Amino acid sequence: MDRVVTDKELGNEVETQRTLRPKKFDEYIGQSTLKEKMKIFIEAAKRRGGCVDHILLYGPPGLGKTTLAGVIANEMGVNLKITSGPVLDKAGDLAAILTSLEENDILFIDEIHRLNTSVEEILYPAMEDGELDIIIGKGPSAKSIRIELPPFTLIGATTRAGLLSSPLRDRFGVTHRMEYYSNEDLVNILMRGASVLQVELNREGALEIAMRSRGTPRIANRFLKRIRDYAEIKGNGIITKSIVMDSLRLLGVDENGLDELDRGIIVSMLENYNGGPVGIETLSLLLGEDRRTIEEVYEPYLVQIGYIKRTPRGRVVTEKGREHFKIKE
Ligand code: ADE
Repeated sequence: MDRVVTDKELGNEVETQRTLRPKKFDEYIGQSTLKEKMKIFIEAAKRRGGCVDHILLYGPPGLGKTTLAGVIANEMGVNLKITSGPVLDKAGDLAAILTSLEENDILFIDEIHRLNTSVEEILYPAMEDGELDIIIGKGPSAKSIRIELPPFTLIGATTRAGLLSSPLRDRFGVTHRMEYYSNEDLVNILMRGASVLQVELNREGALEIAMRSRGTPRIANRFLKRIRDYAEIKGNGIITKSIVMDSLRLLGVDENGLDELDRGIIVSMLENYNGGPVGIETLSLLLGEDRRTIEEVYEPYLVQIGYIKRTPRGRVVTEKGREHFKIKE
């Protein structure tokens, strides 16, 4: 489904997304605790001439995990290799990447909770002892060989830290939860984005976009591009609060950044189950939407703004959620 608030990088946007990405810590807005910690680890690693310890980043999608890996690589002056759990299908795929790393390089594995077990097992000795154990051949003539790897940093990213196996989780020296961004941070990210894209955006307009961006820079930047188009065609190119309001209304995004699918979740819970509790499987059937997508993409924000609650018996619409939808209908 074409969803404007999706967590995914949409094909034609990948290029601008890249140019909008900050390259240095000074340009990276928000996540101040994380930045402070990382700057110290990087400085210490540089002084030792070594690499930073393995890092696990978790939290909702679109909060800048890949961007951060890029900043760390850039500040360290090393290469960054990017891959993801579902892509690394066979142990050999990971072995090929590991053997191509140079000293102190960074390997970024997105959706690391989706690595299959045989790949994960290759990763343990690589992370712990810098060794790669691979088996060549099959049956009685199979041989196990050991390859020394150069020191490297693994940055793992996941939306669901709870799904990581504990041996894998234990091998990260640093674990950090990424936070949703404040409106103030998003305003600054948008002002920076507008200057990169060379569009005129006033602060009032930026705040209006920020408030609807679900605390997520990727969504804020995507809105910025769509609104720029609208401002060029329907206005004089300048992005003002009223241009933001008109264009986002057209895109079906409300004042809290909820789109039709979010509204669908809450309305169907209210209409069919009087607000819950509703089990995740039922919700998934009711909406015709994949369970994991609901859990990882829709729910975190609805929980964050206090519209629904997760309880042991299922999801429940809160008073605040009920109020919002009463006013709407
Ligand atoms: N673009 C995406 N994430 C960003 C961030 N944290 N700071 C600045 N620009 C960004």
